[in-house]
Amino acid sequence: MKIILATNNQNKLREAREIFSPLGIEILSQKDAGISVNSEENGTTFAENALIKARAVYELVHLPVIADDSGLCVDALGGAPGVYSARYAPEHLLCETLLENMKNVPEKQRTAKFITAVAFIDQNGSEITLEGTCAGVIGFEKRGVNGFGYDPVFMFGEKSFAELEPEQKNAVSHRGQAFRNLYEYLKNHVQQEEN
Ligand code: IMP
Repeated sequence: MKIILATNNQNKLREAREIFSPLGIEILSQKDAGISVNSEENGTTFAENALIKARAVYELVHLPVIADDSGLCVDALGGAPGVYSARYAPEHLLCETLLENMKNVPEKQRTAKFITAVAFIDQNGSEITLEGTCAGVIGFEKRGVNGFGYDPVFMFGEKSFAELEPEQKNAVSHRGQAFRNLYEYLKNHVQQEEN
């Protein structure tokens, strides 16, 4: 079975390939599928945005598609930046902007979670969405050099996400969790089709 991952992000592709290959599922990039899509993420939830991305690809190829949409929800900011995580500030200033907006928030109130919604559309056009979350705390300064986005200020226990190796992060992250939830769903789905 081949599934297209609706992304141009190499890290997401690598992660999805690691998770889905034991099922005999080959993950294709948009480029592998010979398409180029940049859909507008104008939904109000992660699940809506994941579906928007997946449908844009499905309409072009009518093959199975996975898409994901993620963001950081900070309790002290009423869930912001949430679905606006990528647009909260220019990419290189995301952490600085968040730290500045939380400079008066005490340690106990700095709880946050990353959320990923993953959408899957099968070859017949049936859609499902699943979620993965990872709870942590927003630190007071940037730490570590790995990862991207808000990783340097997202504290998972004693370390920031940017201080973890990619495999360590994937094992606990929102995206890893959402992909693994989809893995479980597909395992049953694929088995049912085989029976
Ligand atoms: P996307 O929908 O997965 O592309 O994520 C949207 C935005 O959320 C990204 O541009 C990042 O700013 C933020 N984000 C999502 N996942 C992560 C993560 O694992 N670490 C840090 N930031 C993330």
